[in-house]
Amino acid sequence: MSSYKLTDRKGAEIDIQRLLENAKSVLNGNWVDGHTKPNPHLYPHQWSWDSGFIAYGFAHFDQERAQQELLSLFKGQWGNGLVPQIVFHHDSPLYFPGPDFWQTDRHAQASDNPSSSGIIQPPIHASATLHIYKHATDKESATSFLETMYPKLVMWHDFLYRERDPGNEKLIVLFHPWESGQDNSPLWDEVLEKISPDPTEIPHYVRKDTDLIDPAERPKKEDYDRYVYLVKLMWELDYDQSKIAEECPFVVQDVLTNTLLVRANHDLAEIAEILGIDGSKHESRAEETAKAMNEKLWDGHHGVYYDYDLVGEKTLHVHHGAGFSPLFAEVPDQDQAKLMIEYLNSRAFCKLNENCYAVPSYDMQDTKFDPSRYWRGPVWLNVNWILYRGCRLYGFHKYAEWVRESIIHLPHLYGFCEYYDPHEGKGYGTENFSWSAALFIDTVLVEFVKS
Ligand code: GLC
Repeated sequence: MSSYKLTDRKGAEIDIQRLLENAKSVLNGNWVDGHTKPNPHLYPHQWSWDSGFIAYGFAHFDQERAQQELLSLFKGQWGNGLVPQIVFHHDSPLYFPGPDFWQTDRHAQASDNPSSSGIIQPPIHASATLHIYKHATDKESATSFLETMYPKLVMWHDFLYRERDPGNEKLIVLFHPWESGQDNSPLWDEVLEKISPDPTEIPHYVRKDTDLIDPAERPKKEDYDRYVYLVKLMWELDYDQSKIAEECPFVVQDVLTNTLLVRANHDLAEIAEILGIDGSKHESRAEETAKAMNEKLWDGHHGVYYDYDLVGEKTLHVHHGAGFSPLFAEVPDQDQAKLMIEYLNSRAFCKLNENCYAVPSYDMQDTKFDPSRYWRGPVWLNVNWILYRGCRLYGFHKYAEWVRESIIHLPHLYGFCEYYDPHEGKGYGTENFSWSAALFIDTVLVEFVKS
């Protein structure tokens, strides 16, 4: 470790060791009572995919906390297997929408203590569980952790295939932009524009996020109106997944979610093998979902994957950073991957050695690109981490290195922010953001320690 030296674009030395210590302090500072808040002010609860990313970081220096992180999240798992987007371990006046707004008690199997939101987030959990096991120093504890997690993870994946695949296409659907983790991405514009509820149908709500962060860096009011309207629609249907699939105006097969599910299925099969259990069902699911993605979501013209809107019955032709995420789960073959890297390494997504930071969340050449507004342009380190690993898997080392540079340079310049401007590198959103710190740790240690 001590042997390496990195410099930023102005030639100043990057103190990796100090940054690693800072990253650990961010995670330890946001840890409370068995789980880690994404940020104590803006996001004062436990979020589902955040916890997966956070566990990747903790696994390198605090196995116990890494394990606790996932165990705490799964305390909020519903009886039908749903792992909620947010688990509310405590009350907090800082956050909207809190537990009362969700009204999840309308569903007989919803988690009650702790309470939770009523939607999901991308399924990274089996992958995080396997990663913790692989990096564990206390193997006995890690094995018993695997034994505890395995049936919970199986329930989670069973839920997704049973209740979130309405056409039995082996592609999981989302019912809300929040489920994607990329809340206000231009991905959703076309679907959301068709949803125009009468003002009387929008439940009363008061946002808290814009008290803390410049509104120019957050979703707009018209987006929020639709977000809360969709939540109301779900509680009115008592969170019955098949009724929601029929009536919800937002039913989308999403690339990033299905990519993470393919990876998670492979990893769940590996967990089963370690435990001496037959995991062939998970492997088959991984293959079936990957095949369905290639048949339905792949665009061989541009070299990218697209989401599909099941309500409008049309492909969403939106070019965004996560459209390249299938590299992470080895969904494309070599020929597809070559097309993808050509498009990724272009002016739209920050070409190698140009004056930008890879990888913007949205096509930089499109008129909708906004360098500071949340998922409409800024660089997010979790998507970078996914693309970095994906590029490495296919041997695209130069571009992988380019993405890794952003994961290291951006926190060096601006700290562990939530997202960053792809031109200037400036940090936006909240500071001390947990997954930025965790994935920095994982990237640095994977690269330098080769673990
Ligand atoms: C925002 C992000 C989402 C994340 C959550 C907590 O809603 O869009 O991906 O999980 O914040 O960090």
